[in-house]
Amino acid sequence: MKGVVLEKAGPEPRLVVRDLPLPSPGDYDALVKVGACGFCHHDLLVMEGVLRRGVKLPLVLGHEIAGEVAEVGARVTAVQPGDRVVCLPTDACGRCQQCLQGREHRCLEGRGLGHRVDGGMAQYVRVREASLVKVPPQIPWEQACLLACPIGVALQGIDEAHVQAGETVVVTGAGGGLGVHLVQLARSYDARVLAVTSSEGKADLLSKLGAHEVIVTGELDFSEVVLALTEDRGAEVVLDTVGSPLFPSALRSLAPSGRMVLLGEVSGREVRLNLAELIFRNAKLIGSVGASKPHLEQATRLVAEGKLQPIVSHVLPGDEVMEAYKLLKSRESIGRVVLDFTTIF
Ligand SMILES: NC(=O)c1ccc[n+]([C@@H]2O[C@H](COP(=O)([O-])OP(=O)(O)OC[C@H]3O[C@@H](n4cnc5c(N)ncnc54)[C@H](OP(=O)(O)O)[C@@H]3O)[C@@H](O)[C@H]2O)c1
Ligand SMILES: [Zn+2]
Ligand SMILES: [Zn+2]
Repeated sequence: MKGVVLEKAGPEPRLVVRDLPLPSPGDYDALVKVGACGFCHHDLLVMEGVLRRGVKLPLVLGHEIAGEVAEVGARVTAVQPGDRVVCLPTDACGRCQQCLQGREHRCLEGRGLGHRVDGGMAQYVRVREASLVKVPPQIPWEQACLLACPIGVALQGIDEAHVQAGETVVVTGAGGGLGVHLVQLARSYDARVLAVTSSEGKADLLSKLGAHEVIVTGELDFSEVVLALTEDRGAEVVLDTVGSPLFPSALRSLAPSGRMVLLGEVSGREVRLNLAELIFRNAKLIGSVGASKPHLEQATRLVAEGKLQPIVSHVLPGDEVMEAYKLLKSRESIGRVVLDFTTIF
């Protein structure tokens, strides 16, 4: 099979299309013929060498995978060849204490696809059956690959915040892959949604997706606008997908007893934090990573029922990973850039 392999990480990453051996499924594995694979900011950070822990090169990137089961191991019962499926971002065992509680994102035997083991930017990928959820035929590959990450990830993140109807929710990086789906989900909880974007051109779509106000940052500290829009109280919830570049403003935006869910860190830098700012606000900072199977199943239902719209910015041939990289780097993409692995090679 052909796959796109990251050979060198750093400021000038090197990717090559290579012939790779077709993985053979173990007893509980499925071999999935990749339909489409999303290009996540996580892939960009691995390419740049910012995310290094557990990464061994050469590596096939990609954890946003949808495709058709091509072959299954001897003891697989959950899926069969021909099934349309989507994978969890972290390949899970399905048997450990965490998996049995529906916390597959914390699987004790979990393996990050496209991070610790080869991922979906190839014609085939091997995953454990426990990581797969079936996808109904009305969801095309380029949307199906978004169901786990970013949509399932967004669902899990917003659950961590326990958003209540009528609360004000700020979403940062609102025009990105996670952001566009967080905006829709926050709106569906009947929250007042303030979308923060650095890209003026994304404002219209964000309003259409449900943002009550779009705050376009520039040199501006967006917390001042959040405070002005909330009679100086601040937002009960901040869903942050950007991390350190916006952290001071995100924290200043938070109302007393507010909750900030940290989903992303685009730069890999550290932040300065005066602990008194947390203490006197009674604030909660909550990290959220990955998606559990219940969240992936919920994402699949919401999209199948037309209650949530997967936002695909571009669909590129699978060997144009560098083009996807450039689109994210320049923040030109709105929603997710998807790579199509059905027609290339
Ligand atoms: N927790 C998890 O499990 C999980 C899952 C997936 C991704 N992530 C992480 O979440 C972050 C976002 O991922 P994504 O896939 O949504 O990325 P993305 O599609 O590239 O979107 C990120 C958005 O953030 C804004 N942005 C980027 N750099 C910025 C900067 N320096 N200052 C201000 N705004 C900036 C831009 O939005 P605007 O143009 O609207 O300003 C950009 O579109 C990454 O760190 C990624 O690794 C975490
Ligand atoms: Zn992702
Ligand atoms: Zn497990």
